[in-house]
Amino acid sequence: MADKKITIKDGQSDNEIDLPVLDSILGPNVVDIRALEKNLGYLSHDPGFIATSSCESKITFIDGNEGKLWYRGYPIEELAEKSNFLETTYLLLNDKLPSKNELKSFSDDIKSGYNVDRSVLKIIEVFDKDSHPMAIMTACLSYLSAKYHRDLNIQNKNYRYKSTINLISGVPIISAWILNFILGQSFKDSDKTLSIAENFINMAFPKLNDEQKKLSARAMDVIFLLHADHEQNASTSTVRLSGSSETSPYAAIAAGISTLWGPTHGGANEAVINMLEEIKNSDKDVEFYIDQAKDKDNPFRLMGFGHRIYKNYDPRAKIIQKIAHEYLETLDKDNPNKPLFDIAMKLEKYALEDEYFVTRKLYPNVDFYSGIVLKAIGVPQSMYTVIFALARTVGWVAHWNEMLEDKNFRIGRPRQLYTGKNKTSYVDINER
Ligand code: SDX
Repeated sequence: MADKKITIKDGQSDNEIDLPVLDSILGPNVVDIRALEKNLGYLSHDPGFIATSSCESKITFIDGNEGKLWYRGYPIEELAEKSNFLETTYLLLNDKLPSKNELKSFSDDIKSGYNVDRSVLKIIEVFDKDSHPMAIMTACLSYLSAKYHRDLNIQNKNYRYKSTINLISGVPIISAWILNFILGQSFKDSDKTLSIAENFINMAFPKLNDEQKKLSARAMDVIFLLHADHEQNASTSTVRLSGSSETSPYAAIAAGISTLWGPTHGGANEAVINMLEEIKNSDKDVEFYIDQAKDKDNPFRLMGFGHRIYKNYDPRAKIIQKIAHEYLETLDKDNPNKPLFDIAMKLEKYALEDEYFVTRKLYPNVDFYSGIVLKAIGVPQSMYTVIFALARTVGWVAHWNEMLEDKNFRIGRPRQLYTGKNKTSYVDINER
């Protein structure tokens, strides 16, 4: 069958060019526009990358209209119900579910990464206790980029695998240490008999009883799994672009963490709880906040709602809502977190019926309920985005590896529409 193509005709010169169409397995096919400048003298223009495919990837696919998400072809709902964070991490990295032996060997590798050098603690202790944990995490990753710089060998598969293990295992340990620090606790040791989620809970909340640790670790494991990857979102695109210069993977992940921190990206989970707490403590009702979110002159947005790709309910939000409900059922009836969940459900119901939100297809996203579960477990609000970063490190390193193994790998370097001054000459200061 003739190669698929689209033809573009320049209305000014009547010149035209055929551009190849590349087939996707799922989602829209793409037009390869690389010949556009050479043959017609134009660049494409897409601020915010609304309609631009930046790379070829086999890792994750989102159907935004249906509100569906697949990791390596497996529906997120099935993985959340039947798999766990470790097995899903293997899947995202290796494009297959592991056999028992493969999972055991991978688990041993991951646990070997629990030995994070305790010199990282010196970096954590430099910060004030009220410093934002995402700033502390970024500094720790930069410290690791220096610590491992002598070994830097991006083209070497073994170096990439060792870095992958160090990051996937190390970020959760550093996250727990940061939590110890901001809570004024001593720095806890990791326990190699535990999974990443169990070990995080054990290090962060040593005072929980065994039943509470088990419940919290299971909820945390699913939250890590749900946050692990999500196509070319802002922070993953940052890690790809940063990693494309062949910089240290620890430095590229530090860049991803900085991007995720923003309130319109991963920082939304913290912003949602701030919003729910404000509503709970105010004398205004939910409708007042809905009206504020609709007011163009008001910068207030309904945090946890809306998404660049999902124009339907974020499937991860549905799963986390269920976890929140189940987890809150285990708490005593006057637990201060229950009213937040009720306010969230009321806000969601209102927004899903309001014409402004309906016409813009603004639905709850992954961040809307995750803060409620994290708060119920006892995670300080400032740590919510660190939890997101801990999980997303898996997706970031999966994309970093996929990019470096791509036969078309090259440094990323976007172009621009220049609308500044035309060419001019220097004017001496005495003549200005
Ligand atoms: C994550 O990309 C990913 O995959 C991200 C993520 C991942 O896993 O990596 O899913 C994680 O970042 C989830 C999103 C978390 N952020 C929030 O919950 C913050 C609140 N949401 C908004 O900031 C916004 O919806 C974004 C940033 C999520 C999406 O922004 P877009 O795609 O640029 O959409 P937009 O700003 O162009 O909005 C379209 C319209 C606008 O109104 P009009 O100009 O058409 O009249 O919808 C309005 C916006 O004003 N709108 C909102 C709104 N979100 C969009 N109005 C009120 N409240 C909101 N939350």
